[in-house]
Amino acid sequence: MMIDFLGDWKRTDYCGNLRKEDAGREVFLLGWVQRRRDLGGLIFIEVRDRYGIVQVVFNPESNPEAHEKAQALRSEYVVGIEGRVVLRPEGTANPKLGTGEVEVAVKELKILNISRTPPFLIEEEEEVAENTRLKYRYLDLRRPGLQKNLILRHRLAREVRDYFDRLGFLEVETPMLTKSTPEGARDFLVPSRLSPGHFYALPQSPQLFKQILMVAGYDRYFQLVRCFRDEDLRSDRQPEFTQIDVEMSFVTVEDIRKTMEGLMVHLFKEVMGMELETPFPILSYDEAMDRYGLDKPDTRFGLELRDLSKVLMHSTFKVFKDALDKGGILKAINVKGGATFSRKEIDELTHFVYAYGARGLISAKVGQDTWQSPMQRFITDEERKSVGKVMEASEGDLLLLIGGPSKVVNQSLANLRLHLGKKLGLIPEEEYRFVWILDFPLLEYDETEKRYAAVHHPFTAPRDEDLSTLKDHPEEVKAKAYDLVLNGSEIGGGSIRNHLKEVQSLLFEKLGMDEEEAREKFGFLLEALEFGTPPHGGIAFGFDRLVMILSHSESIRDVIAFPKTQKGTCLMTDAPSKVDGKQLDELWIKLKV
Ligand code: AMO
Repeated sequence: MMIDFLGDWKRTDYCGNLRKEDAGREVFLLGWVQRRRDLGGLIFIEVRDRYGIVQVVFNPESNPEAHEKAQALRSEYVVGIEGRVVLRPEGTANPKLGTGEVEVAVKELKILNISRTPPFLIEEEEEVAENTRLKYRYLDLRRPGLQKNLILRHRLAREVRDYFDRLGFLEVETPMLTKSTPEGARDFLVPSRLSPGHFYALPQSPQLFKQILMVAGYDRYFQLVRCFRDEDLRSDRQPEFTQIDVEMSFVTVEDIRKTMEGLMVHLFKEVMGMELETPFPILSYDEAMDRYGLDKPDTRFGLELRDLSKVLMHSTFKVFKDALDKGGILKAINVKGGATFSRKEIDELTHFVYAYGARGLISAKVGQDTWQSPMQRFITDEERKSVGKVMEASEGDLLLLIGGPSKVVNQSLANLRLHLGKKLGLIPEEEYRFVWILDFPLLEYDETEKRYAAVHHPFTAPRDEDLSTLKDHPEEVKAKAYDLVLNGSEIGGGSIRNHLKEVQSLLFEKLGMDEEEAREKFGFLLEALEFGTPPHGGIAFGFDRLVMILSHSESIRDVIAFPKTQKGTCLMTDAPSKVDGKQLDELWIKLKV
């Protein structure tokens, strides 16, 4: 087929922008053939560009040459159209299209390129296997769903920059080839050619660089920045993702909360056209664990957890007694009106919690004076009444109880709560509920490694009042750390940092690092802390997660132009891939595989 040159054709309009006010105008359009319909006489094609679709008509009588040429058009051919905008005949307007009242009568057609038959339809959001979409990402990106998400992403990024700029923040780029910064994941390593046997790490976050910028007196920093973490992937995790990274000097936890609430208010207003109410509610970490069983509660619905350890403290029911005797806990949720659940449904819920380590799920259907429950025979009337009171149970409710180690109980019930929330349609999907989680523990004991690990990261400061406890009872210390949770997703986290060298050194020690190791890994930070470091703190938001929630996307891959699969591969480019021996030699690397 003859391919035409663009020549001196200049686009006058975007396809999607034409309206009835344009009728009568001569236009030049450039785009892709979305669909061709040959009605024997007339040929209609829909031409698509980023702005939308317009119908183009070839009439054999008024323009036989163009009509003849249009016979060859197929889906995704690239075309140029010179023509006149005309009103569509009475009764043929298409209300689904912005351009639905007009069409373009062709004067000249240029076929600028052809296309293979695409493996899936571009125009419809039909279900396509994700692997196919990822392999032909450029075709997937032509589809309206992804385009909408990327446009939203762009607008959010722009408003983020605008917001921080107006508050006097500077965007400073930090290195990608750097030293490991621990954020709890594995590093991606890059071998150095010039330093045999040495490696850079791709940053898990710019944490230390932003702190150093505070030492350098930059006062207010932000950056939209790519981070890299080699961890198990989930629907809201990618090995490379983007953070809105922030650091400020001379601030309190409250200052940072206010600044970030301001950002959310700005983004929701400018991009979503919504007013948010501030301040956002606050939960302490302990309260979140108590009421929701996790530190990122979805507060759009109830079904809260209640602790029954106290009221069933003397229970003779074996399941409960065993759990409590071993230092565990007993918690439950109340499914209002859930007594209608069938045996099979309850069995399914029991299986559901097995996955989180629970040994079982005790159900109780609440009747007027008795319960239908495996524990009915083992609890006293008094206990039943107390449980009913704590659970605010009334006739027709279903109580679901789990006993065991606190971690298992909380995890099981937290996930059961979310599962039931979805199953019973209790979650108002259109609502946005923010909540700050404060007062996290500073450290947690890692049973496998037999040492303490930082809950947030090792640069987080303990609360002032807990400083003296750090030496002897590190497990009791709370951190000046905070997370922002939106609809059950952790969209951001940060902390006030250790600006005093002694405190930072003590913390490294508590993390099981001796002086030498601390110096080797973080010597540059410890040294910088000796040169007049201001009190400072910051936060980072998961930008992809934010876009995900605002676009109601199920997967983080739907808000990233070129994402990786769950296995960390790129199906379009086939990365990661093998490299040749010469490249490895240059890097002083010998493969074991
Ligand atoms: P943190 O590790 O909590 O904090 O990360 C901040 C936010 O980044 C998002 N996030 C991710 N998003 C997609 N894929 C991932 N693999 C992924 N991992 C994290 C989350 C998370 O809340 N340096 C600190 C911040 C600070 O202290 O200032 C940090 O990186 O939404």
